[in-house]
Amino acid sequence: MIIPIKPWLDRANGTGHAGLRGSRSAVWNGLALSSNVEMDEFSPPCWGATPDSLLFPNFTHRMEFYHDPILAPEILAAMEPVAGKQILDGTVGGGGHAEWLLRHGAHVIGCDQDQDALNHAERRLAAYEDAFLPVRGNFRDMDSILAGLGIGQVDGILLDLGVSSRQLDNPARGFSFREDGPLDMRMDDRAALTAKELVNEWEEEELIRIFREYGEERRAARVAREIVKARALQPIETTFALSEVVARAIPKTSAKNPATKVFQAIRIAVNAELEALETALEKAVALLAPKGVLAIITFHSLEDRIVKRFMHRRSNPFIDRPEWSAPRPNPDFCFHLPSRRAIEPGEKETRDNPRSRSAKLRVAIKV
Ligand SMILES: C[S@@+](CC[C@H](N)C(=O)[O-])C[C@H]1O[C@@H](n2cnc3c(N)ncnc32)[C@H](O)[C@@H]1O
Repeated sequence: MIIPIKPWLDRANGTGHAGLRGSRSAVWNGLALSSNVEMDEFSPPCWGATPDSLLFPNFTHRMEFYHDPILAPEILAAMEPVAGKQILDGTVGGGGHAEWLLRHGAHVIGCDQDQDALNHAERRLAAYEDAFLPVRGNFRDMDSILAGLGIGQVDGILLDLGVSSRQLDNPARGFSFREDGPLDMRMDDRAALTAKELVNEWEEEELIRIFREYGEERRAARVAREIVKARALQPIETTFALSEVVARAIPKTSAKNPATKVFQAIRIAVNAELEALETALEKAVALLAPKGVLAIITFHSLEDRIVKRFMHRRSNPFIDRPEWSAPRPNPDFCFHLPSRRAIEPGEKETRDNPRSRSAKLRVAIKV
C-alpha cells in the first residue's frame, strides 16, 4: 500500500512532517492511512456484491445512498473553507460534509473509525485526490492522528456525531431494531466489545446504569431485569430478539418503538461515544490555530449538554463569584462564540431529511 504524499502537507503549519515525506509503509506511526491504490479494489463492479448485500438483499437497494449531510450550508458559513485552510473532519462518514468543504477549496483530513465509511468517502472524493486525505482512526486520538501527519494545528475541526444513515440502515451492523441482524453496533469492527457481549454479559446494575444515563430510560430497572431473565434461558443474539425482550418490559404506548432508548444506550456504551467526545473536545483546543473553528453537530441531549458546557465554560474572559470582590481572568478562556445558542435545521431540511430533526450545531472560534 502506498501512502499518498499530499503536496499540501508540505505547507502544513506546525511541527513539520519530515517523517511523512517519502514514507511508503502501510502503517505509519500506528495509523492506517488509506491510499488511492486501495481504491481500485472498490471499483463499481464489485461494490454491490459485498457479503452484507448478499445476506441482506433489501439493504443492497440503498447501498449507493450513504447519508445526507446535515446543516451543510450552516457548516460552510461557520468554517469558511477557502483555499489554504486545512480542516479535520473527524467523522467523515460518506464524505458529504467533506465534499462541501473541498468544493470550496479547503484541504480536508477525513477521519472515521469505520473502514466502510472511509472506502465510500475515498471513492466519492476521488476527484479531490490532492486535497483529501482519508485516515482510519477514532477522533478521540485526533492529536496523534495529526501529529502522525506532521500537522501541528488546523483551521477547523468538524464532528458530526453518531452513526450515519448507512450504518443505521445496514442490518448486518446491528444498530437498528427495524430489521433483524446480529447484535453488533460497533462503528469500528476492530473493537472488542459488541452489543451482544454487553447485553449477555454485563451485570444487571451496569445495564440499569447505561439505560438510565445514556438512554434516559425511566424503566431502566425493568428492562434490565427482563434482559437478565431472558438471557438465563438463551443468549440474546439479534436485534429482533432484544426488541422483543424490551417490549416485555415497556408496553408500546406511542408510534415510537419502545426499544429506541435502550438501543441508543447500548450503542453509546459499545462505542464509548461520550468519553470519545469529551476527550476530543479537550484536545481540540490546542489543535486549533488562532481563529480556527470548532463545529460540532449533536443528535441527543447528552451530547449537546457536553458540548454546550465545554464551549460556554471557555468563552467568558472573566469569571465572577459572589465571594470575590472583583471578577478574575478565566484560565480556560479560549473561544469566542458567534452565538450562545445552538443552530437547528429549518423546516425544509427536517421535512426533506427527517433524521436531521434532533440535530444541533454549536460553533466556537479560537481566540
Ligand atoms: C453522522 S455520520 C457522519 C456523516 C458525514 N458528516 C457525511 O456528511 O457523510 C458519523 C460518522 O462518524 C463516525 N464516527 C462516530 N464516532 C467516531 C469516532 N469517535 N471516531 C471516528 N469516527 C467516528 C461514524 O463511523 C460515522 O461514519
